Amino acid sequence: MTWARTLPAGRAHAHPEPISGAPYSAVELMVGDKTLMLLDQRKLPAHERYEYVSEWTQVEEAIKSMMVRGAPAIGIAAAYALVLAAARGAETLRAAADALGKARPTAVNLAHAIATIMREAEKNSAPAHLAEVARTYHKEEVAACKRIGARGAEALPQKCTVLTHCNAGALATGGFGTALGVVRAARAAGKDVHVIACETRPLLQGARLTAWELARDHIPVTLVTDSMAASIMARGEIHAVVVGADRIAKNGDVANKIGTYGLAVLAHAHDIPFYVAAPWSTVDLACADGAAIPIEERSEDEVLAIETTRIAPAGVTARNPAFDVTPARLIRAIYTERDVDLLHPTP
Ligand code: MRU
Repeated sequence: MTWARTLPAGRAHAHPEPISGAPYSAVELMVGDKTLMLLDQRKLPAHERYEYVSEWTQVEEAIKSMMVRGAPAIGIAAAYALVLAAARGAETLRAAADALGKARPTAVNLAHAIATIMREAEKNSAPAHLAEVARTYHKEEVAACKRIGARGAEALPQKCTVLTHCNAGALATGGFGTALGVVRAARAAGKDVHVIACETRPLLQGARLTAWELARDHIPVTLVTDSMAASIMARGEIHAVVVGADRIAKNGDVANKIGTYGLAVLAHAHDIPFYVAAPWSTVDLACADGAAIPIEERSEDEVLAIETTRIAPAGVTARNPAFDVTPARLIRAIYTERDVDLLHPTP
């Protein structure tokens, strides 16, 4: 596997065999366990640029700034950040676990990954040991995506157009993807799947990241603005909607990128099946329903400007909730790697 990478001047890092299983990766721990490599997703698709960080605080900042984003990917990044923190002692490890858990509030994968590492650290907090635990966590997340993909792919017709929102692909996970994992698995099974990607305002994860990943894999993808979804559905051009999730409550309510709820309402109105694909690390059984899911509010600047170009008049304010909640009743199926039907639990 070769890396398309830009190494910082004067530094070289021993690259491991990428756990992502792809020629690009959102996050990988370098050989020696002292450096984490992050693909700067804010720069895609113009630049495929990797950053190399060796302090947990840099990973915290990378998560907050969305250099690394997507619920499973930020969980994996946090797990590796704790390996870096452990090298600085037990007190730093505890402080890192606390701070990383608050970096982004909606994706429960963060808490899940941190709990996994901290449970192990109680027994053995040697960085080398925690690095192995974190790598195993990363590998299990990729394996989960493949299982999710296989399950979801079965639901898709032999020839279909799938609408997706945001980016729930290899970039948002340890590799392979959840919603895009379903598409990849269906294509691998010989199905003729075309993807309609919603651009996903305000940060354009659909336009920048989903389109980039799929084009790289030669999977046909057509970009639409978010406001085009209703009309395309009304014309009968969409056969299924498949999205990822940031947190799934016990009753099957799903928090995902802002705009997902609207798409679910539209899908319901047009009798189009709406599917959610997510690993078990996204399920929060402690959350009774969607009302209990914390919704991240991000800076209004992300709405008022595109990158550094202001698009709204001076003095205008904006709202920027990063996620919304889709009620379980609008969801046809939730695919995880487990044989559990969250929408129809057995008593
Ligand atoms: O704000 P982001 O880009 O981190 O939001 C990502 C999403 O909403 C994804 O759909 C979700 O995390 C699932 S990723 C497999």
